[in-house]
Amino acid sequence: MSKAAALQARLRAKGVEWPAAIEWHAVVASTNDRLKSLAREAAPEWTVVISDRQTRGRGRDGRAWTSPAGGLYLSVLLRPRFSILGLLPLAAGVAVAEAVEEQGVRAALKWPNDVLVEDAAPAAPAAPREAGDPRKLAGILAEAASGIPGLEWVVLGIGVNVSRAEPGAPQAQEARMAWIAESSPHVELGAVAAAVLARLRVWYDALGSSPASVVEAWRRRSVAWWGQPVELRAGMEALRGTLVDVDAEGALVIETAEGARRRLVSGEVTRLRRES
Ligand code: BTN
Repeated sequence: MSKAAALQARLRAKGVEWPAAIEWHAVVASTNDRLKSLAREAAPEWTVVISDRQTRGRGRDGRAWTSPAGGLYLSVLLRPRFSILGLLPLAAGVAVAEAVEEQGVRAALKWPNDVLVEDAAPAAPAAPREAGDPRKLAGILAEAASGIPGLEWVVLGIGVNVSRAEPGAPQAQEARMAWIAESSPHVELGAVAAAVLARLRVWYDALGSSPASVVEAWRRRSVAWWGQPVELRAGMEALRGTLVDVDAEGALVIETAEGARRRLVSGEVTRLRRES
């Protein structure tokens, strides 16, 4: 049986009849790029591209996503009909966090949708990170295209560190990464893929029927940085302040030292040490 057919069967066993084609490649440049070209050729919603490896995997903010064998590299095509698009990254984060939890790993979310593992001890003694800094288990890259009537499609690209088959990223970068296999050595990539897709269907439906439940589920899994000093970087800009909340539309709310509340829709948050 092909890997794609096996994945369809796993989904069926979870009660999910997958509604569109699943392509599973040995290697592609980027599953997002492959799926974007299918989207332009009118591929239906829920078309999926997975690859064992990527040669030019992309992360947020133009960063590379190192993609050796052993990781899950998956992209899903969505054609959203609801209006609160800011919640889509949060819904995807909740879906991925729940999927990795099905594999026995407790995950936390950092806005908008970094999936992290919080542990006290550094993974490697020489790791250039402070004890207690969360490590990244999965990342999500949403890329959208609009036409005259509005949003046409969103390609949701999901990368999950499943097994560390071979060193992939530079050492300093790997010290900040976590793998499901560290705590669940028998994890199967196909099981992670099925869990991600099944949970994504649930939380995508929730965006239409109950957007408040998405925010609530996201908050429950969020790293507990509320009330703490953070820095948000978006492109060349950086804003420092206290982390206040995530609002009903998925924006991050930060209070600056001057007491102004700023609502932010994109960027990368880092926690600042109290003394900095
Ligand atoms: C991030 O920077 O956190 C987002 C990483 C997203 C990586 C995934 S892997 C599958 C898909 N294809 C890509 O080229 N990127 C996304």
